[in-house]
Amino acid sequence: MSNLHGKKILIGVTGGIAIYKVLDLISRLKKEGAELRIIMTKAATALVNPQTFQTMARCPVHTEMFKDEPTYDVEHIELAEDCDLALVAPATANTIAKLACGIADNLLTTTLLACKKPVYFAPAMNTNMLHHPATQRNIAMLREMGYGFIDSNSGFLACNIIGDGRMAEPQEIVEFMKTACTEKDLCGLRIMVTAGPTIERIDPVRYITNDSSGKMGYAIAKAALDRGAEVLLVSGPTSLEVPSGVQFTSVTTNEELYQAIDRDFEGIDVLIMAAAPADFRSEVVEDQKIKKKDALQLQLVKNRDIIGDFGQKKTHQTLIGFAAETEELVENAREKLRSKRLDYIVANDVSEPDSGFNVDTNRAVILSEKMKIALPLMLKREMADRILDLLKR
Ligand code: PMT
Repeated sequence: MSNLHGKKILIGVTGGIAIYKVLDLISRLKKEGAELRIIMTKAATALVNPQTFQTMARCPVHTEMFKDEPTYDVEHIELAEDCDLALVAPATANTIAKLACGIADNLLTTTLLACKKPVYFAPAMNTNMLHHPATQRNIAMLREMGYGFIDSNSGFLACNIIGDGRMAEPQEIVEFMKTACTEKDLCGLRIMVTAGPTIERIDPVRYITNDSSGKMGYAIAKAALDRGAEVLLVSGPTSLEVPSGVQFTSVTTNEELYQAIDRDFEGIDVLIMAAAPADFRSEVVEDQKIKKKDALQLQLVKNRDIIGDFGQKKTHQTLIGFAAETEELVENAREKLRSKRLDYIVANDVSEPDSGFNVDTNRAVILSEKMKIALPLMLKREMADRILDLLKR
């Protein structure tokens, strides 16, 4: 279940042309199960009719500070208190400036000033407005006060130029909100995650490797980061984006992977070995491209069993290995758990098309000496959280 499920999110909509993206954002937040409340400024209602937001979000849209019909509730206080977090999107330079100065001259700014819950801004404006020293100062002041910002991107703007100030995409904002809502239950842990394949050269143009995409390891790194851990990600070659906030080391060969782990092993609490290191390398690495011939014999030598070596060296560290199996899943994984001196092993059946290498989903059995947990088919991100649950204290 999404960690936005049941969260009460107050959305403040101001008068920026990026308002059209907020309809998509609302639809995504609804799909995640969030409960929405909306306040629109007068400028926002000049761009899109509140009825549109009301219908999309299936909630009343608040626009006026003083309503015609009398009510005994103090509306801005009720809205400020009855939410888990607030998001201003698009956030114009004007609304950002007002809040930085404590101005409360409409329902949105009054509510935000009264709100003690986390408040995030997704700025959207013309490049010059964003770079203006006053706007930069206002953003810095709000950050200093503890407000969060979902930084704008660079791209094509409504004013027909390419530059900074384009509101973050709805998907990015949803991901940001999910992270913001994640319980920081791994705070204080230093976790190293390895991911992806390693490569062993045969000659300048040929190498030995495997199908690992890095998706499993990167999902664990991101989940650990979201849950407040300090994360060191050591990765073989992949095409994935490095999650911002991790301490990243890029490696190519099995030996480089070993050295990168060894450098920090003493100072980490947990090593999660989701990488698929090459088990063999060519005894000879040719300097020149090997000429085509009818047959070629390669002498392969065994690479170091990295996690096995750290299993021997461990003092206080928790070691979580993976087992990539195509048969006898549990039996083979149990043997690896013991021989490598691991605390846990995640056994995944890599012969299935929807689990293991290079897919977004996985299916596994987690084993320790004392327990066995079967994890059905799920997204690698969900599996990452289930693995990290083992570390909750
Ligand atoms: O990267 P993805 O496309 O998302 O795919 C994910 C995955 C299938 C690669 C991942 O879920 C996985 O199973 N990783 C381990 C792959 C592997 O090398 O399994 P193994 O059973 O051969 O090795 C057992 C353990 O020893 C693993 O933790 C492995 O990292 C480690 N190992 C293996 C070989 C070696 N020379 N040194 C090691 O430390």
